[in-house]
Amino acid sequence: MTSIRPRRLRRTPVIRAMVREHHVRLESLVQPLFIVENEADAGAISSMPGISRFTVEGAVAECCVLHALGIRSVLLFGIPENKDALASSNYDPNGVIQQAIRAIKAALPDLYVIADLCNCEYTDHGHCGIVDEHGDVDNDKSVALLVRAAITYAHAGVDMIAPSDMMDGRVEAIRSALDAHGFSNTPIMAYSAKYASAFYGPFREAADSTPQFGDRRTYQMDAPNAREALREMALDIEEGADVIMVKPGLPYLDVVRAARENFDVPIAVYNVSGEYSMLKAAVANGWLDGDRAIDETLVSFVRAGADIIITYFAKEYAQRHGA
Ligand code: PBG
Repeated sequence: MTSIRPRRLRRTPVIRAMVREHHVRLESLVQPLFIVENEADAGAISSMPGISRFTVEGAVAECCVLHALGIRSVLLFGIPENKDALASSNYDPNGVIQQAIRAIKAALPDLYVIADLCNCEYTDHGHCGIVDEHGDVDNDKSVALLVRAAITYAHAGVDMIAPSDMMDGRVEAIRSALDAHGFSNTPIMAYSAKYASAFYGPFREAADSTPQFGDRRTYQMDAPNAREALREMALDIEEGADVIMVKPGLPYLDVVRAARENFDVPIAVYNVSGEYSMLKAAVANGWLDGDRAIDETLVSFVRAGADIIITYFAKEYAQRHGA
């Protein structure tokens, strides 16, 4: 009888490192950035300790710091000065996000700039699209606005577009418009399985995008559904998505794993604001060792099968493990 002892391979740091199965790579991490048009809105976000809202200039400076740390990519969210029912500042060629894309690409041509594409930061009611007379979000009218905005982002020089609105058919509409305007090389990362989640709470403070009435349950997914997530992902791939995303991260690791097992396209996961804030709050209370909890969180996404990890911890992680 052999005596099998798994503990033999855990005895020293060296052997543990040799048999380690998964690694978090800096090149997989994407740092989200909030960019405000109005300078008075810049500054710390109280519910997300360590995260700030930047002016365009401030964002360029922050990108230089991130880039020097070895972070290769950022995901931009614009917070405009003016909001209206038609989200018009979202497709203004001189809007805050378009300005930010141009400024960051000019300063750091090889930083990979991804733009989140949604209407909720740009509408006065905070919904992700056009609200009709019954209070419903009109799918096709909302998609038409997203398409307009996507073209302005592409003209500004964005590297990748990430629609986060959960309207039906938007990937196909954006893909064909990008192609028609000469942007056939601009990839789409679709927020494919985006759940109606309580964990977006701090983001809505940061992006000033809390719906003024109702909620997002008629367009974002219902938390108990996993098969439906696969259907959403298959549709987005068919419509031309280059990368599919699962969001939030930690409460949906099973969905990340299912995505990995069912599809061959790259999988992204979004470690959202609430996941960040929970951990930070526990660390602030002395209840968790932050460094270890962050490392364990990020490697869980790799283990589940994610290729790209969008996380507010990216900068901190790079400060500890980077170049
Ligand atoms: C925009 C959008 C949201 C997030 C990313 N894009 C908010 C929402 O859908 O309410 C959430 C990100 C986070 O919580 O970190 N639609």
